[in-house]
Amino acid sequence: MTREYRYLQLEAWLLQGIKEGRWRPGERLPSIRSLCREHAVAKATVQHALQRLEAKGLVEARPKAGHFVSLQAPAVQQPLSRARIEAPRPVTVSDLLLDIMRRSAAFDLLPDGQAGDLPPGIVALNRSIGRSLRRQRGDDYQYYDDPAGDSGLRQQLALHLSRRGWRVGPDRLCITSGCQHALFLALMACCKPGDVVAVESPGFYGVLQLIEQFDLQVVEVPASSATGMDIDALEEVLRRWQVRACVVSPAFATPGGALMPDSAKRRLLALADQHDLAVIEDDIYADTAFGPVPDPLKALDTDDRVILCSSFSKCLSRDLRLGWISGARWHARILHLKLVTQLASSRFLQQGVAEFMADGSFTSHLRRLRNELRERRDQLVSLLHAWPGDVRVSAPQGGLAVWVELPEAVDSLAVYPRALQAGVVITPGPLFSVSGQFKNCLRISFAHPWDKARATALKLLPELLQQR
Ligand SMILES: Cc1ncc(COP(=O)(O)O)c(C=O)c1O
Repeated sequence: MTREYRYLQLEAWLLQGIKEGRWRPGERLPSIRSLCREHAVAKATVQHALQRLEAKGLVEARPKAGHFVSLQAPAVQQPLSRARIEAPRPVTVSDLLLDIMRRSAAFDLLPDGQAGDLPPGIVALNRSIGRSLRRQRGDDYQYYDDPAGDSGLRQQLALHLSRRGWRVGPDRLCITSGCQHALFLALMACCKPGDVVAVESPGFYGVLQLIEQFDLQVVEVPASSATGMDIDALEEVLRRWQVRACVVSPAFATPGGALMPDSAKRRLLALADQHDLAVIEDDIYADTAFGPVPDPLKALDTDDRVILCSSFSKCLSRDLRLGWISGARWHARILHLKLVTQLASSRFLQQGVAEFMADGSFTSHLRRLRNELRERRDQLVSLLHAWPGDVRVSAPQGGLAVWVELPEAVDSLAVYPRALQAGVVITPGPLFSVSGQFKNCLRISFAHPWDKARATALKLLPELLQQR
């Protein structure tokens, strides 16, 4: 047997194993040493076979951990369903969302928040904020901060964003009360009642709520859980209706964690120029990237029409309630609206976070967080692939959740109360759309560790989902 023949043989054997599910997505392949032993081949032969699988996107090499089946492997079934294109309409968001939020369970299967150890990054953050509090001058409490926000924090954010290929001056950033507030300001600045806003479908329910409150209309653009908003569908929508703004999450869109390719970003911007659209970029998940952090859409914006919105909620703390916006040609109006809606942000909180960023603690925290999230995603995806029946799971490379598509007969809204009785909170698919689609889908988060209680909740789900 020639040496070349051996690596091809080994490659075919590994490929077959992946296709047959001997090693599931996210699982580790046998070590190089054991492959050498079992197949009586040299180390270089094994490495060559693994490299070829890696080049095909089927296998991922992780330093010091080994080789893993990629979640992007074509053998892996990903959600298929595509939303329909329907005419623009007003929005009514289900009260179910409020119920989930009251149970603190939008990103958890367990209600009411669970006690856990503080991660080192949060300990460091709390210390920075404590120091900032102690540094306040005697009369600071008598004054509001600059409505644009603390200049030190804006400088740190500008530096952070410049590492993602987008040079922005601190004067082009405004601090907000989280990303939801940034999205609120963006829509308020560029739309008036009755205007049509294009969104991803499935997409973030918080945007649907804002559209409802502003008396806007929504048009849902089908989005894949791998590559995000379908730009062909957007083109069709723009041909058929007059659309004022488009809200899009190119980096790890919720619910499926899609990552929009650069070619699609460019097409989106060309369409925005052609149809004079305001583009509202929700960048909140970018810093959770398991691999390289993608550049924002804003980095490609030559026409000053992309409003970038983000916050520390997903990559640091939801409780900070600190976000930011860069308002493109609407920035002056957005600054005014920030003043109107919030007056100012808390100074000691902003200065504490600025110090946390300046001393390198944020970077170390992100490094740790990304590794943890990737492990939790892998664990979740392997558990979900063991569910009975035709279950399709998205394969996010960042973000905090996967999108799960179950057999057609499943009605996730009907399952919600049954699951609650069993102590499990689910996030049903129809919350991510206004058109009643995605009944057989769920968003499941991997924001928390798969401890015993959460793993038990997850194990209960297949049976709860099958009950009629
Ligand atoms: C895509 C997306 N955008 C914005 C938000 C709101 O974030 P914040 O907590 O910063 O207001 C969320 C929260 O779940 C989200 O998932």
